[in-house]
Amino acid sequence: MTADAPTHEELAELVAAAGRVADHSSLRPWRLIEMRGADRERLGKAIAKAQGDRRPSTKPLRAPLLVAVVVSYRKSGKVPHWEQEAVASGVAHTLSLLLDEAGWGVIWRTGGYTRAKKVAKAHGLQKNEALLGWLYVGGKPAGKSAGRRKPIDVDAVLTRMPQKKRR
Ligand SMILES: Cc1cc2nc3c(=O)[nH]c(=O)nc-3n(C[C@H](O)[C@H](O)[C@H](O)COP(=O)(O)O)c2cc1C
Repeated sequence: MTADAPTHEELAELVAAAGRVADHSSLRPWRLIEMRGADRERLGKAIAKAQGDRRPSTKPLRAPLLVAVVVSYRKSGKVPHWEQEAVASGVAHTLSLLLDEAGWGVIWRTGGYTRAKKVAKAHGLQKNEALLGWLYVGGKPAGKSAGRRKPIDVDAVLTRMPQKKRR
């Protein structure tokens, strides 16, 4: 990624739209943390601590803007944690698509340290919160085409319920 990044205002507009995903009981069980400049170095230090490395991780420096995706679990008798994670994931996926449409490069990244206590502390997470990873956001380098994926084998993924066998 290049050093170009959306401004706070540009990002905020897209977050307002992405936040409109389906949300059971409207619990809004998510928040995002915008990380730029030295914030990324603090994350690099926290990752190193979590992994027992002496040198800070340089991974967070690979993009000018990181957006940490946080699930904030709400108390609910109706909406279990997995549904709340689905909402937070939905926001992250939608935000990725909106950023892509606006011309930015985006990669959702995680690592073995994503749920480490030291990493949570660096983000100021509360007890009811957990990280779902980071969106790495930046400019698309010129001349590099998007990676190719195999087309979806729709018949393999769009099927019917098992039917009862007729005697
Ligand atoms: C929860 C989650 C975690 C991911 N973690 C990583 C990661 O750590 N490293 C990575 O290269 N891609 C990771 N990916 C995949 C990338 O975000 C992305 O899908 C991939 O680079 C291919 O790009 P494309 O989706 O535009 O084809 C992750 C995706 C998700 C949904």
